Amino acid sequence: MSIGLIGGSGLETLFGDSGYKTLATPYGEIKYLETYIDETHVVFIPRHGPKHENPPHKVNYLGNMYALAKLGVDKIVATSAVGAVDESLHPGNLVLVDQFIDFTKRMITFYDEHVVHVDVSKPYCPNMNRVLFKVGRDLGITLRLGAIYVCTEGPRFETPAEINMFRMLGASIVGMTNVPEVVLAREAGFHYSLLAIVTNYAAGMQDRITQEEVVEIMGKASASVGNLLEKAVGELTGQSWDDDCIKFRDVFKKLILG
Ligand code: HPA
Repeated sequence: MSIGLIGGSGLETLFGDSGYKTLATPYGEIKYLETYIDETHVVFIPRHGPKHENPPHKVNYLGNMYALAKLGVDKIVATSAVGAVDESLHPGNLVLVDQFIDFTKRMITFYDEHVVHVDVSKPYCPNMNRVLFKVGRDLGITLRLGAIYVCTEGPRFETPAEINMFRMLGASIVGMTNVPEVVLAREAGFHYSLLAIVTNYAAGMQDRITQEEVVEIMGKASASVGNLLEKAVGELTGQSWDDDCIKFRDVFKKLILG
């Protein structure tokens, strides 16, 4: 089995910037890198494109997921830059997400023409999260296990009033891309985990937020993120754990993937 890695903003070059292959999908062409970590086949897709050319509302979410499924991936570890909403989180912290709240206006689904309602009671794979947490602990990398990700439409950052509202709703972190990504992962029957990298305090908790600081903090975190992923992939292969994923992958194969 293969592992898919999705690189967030600033992590486009985690596996170098050459050797990209192209896969044509019904949703457009997707650029990806293929590599092996020990014995494990790894497919890496930079979420926003190799040169960070697609803003959050124009990411090819459908194409990225379709390509990973076509290339034989069944487990995905995604990485994303996020702002801290929870005051106990700080720039540089790494977080494994377990729930999301959707504040986007996106209507992106594989099941536009079919009536398929996937269960998202556990949108992120609890077993993968546990493995990542344990591998991180063994490496001396501090990770928080469990966080609520609120997804905004972007591409602007949020207002302090919005962030106060999100905090009242229980959100821990804020980002612009995990919906629909996590939902499409579920629709396509992947085991999916999100490693979020806190790059800034959310709006109102620091003076202003810049894209430059997001990329700079992601760059600083890339060594430990790369290290963690490298050690984790071998631990993540093996059996599938979740019957729902197997069921959803069957439906996806029948209706979408062919
Ligand atoms: N808000 C939304 N998305 C983000 C942020 C933020 O503060 N930081 C990094 N991605």
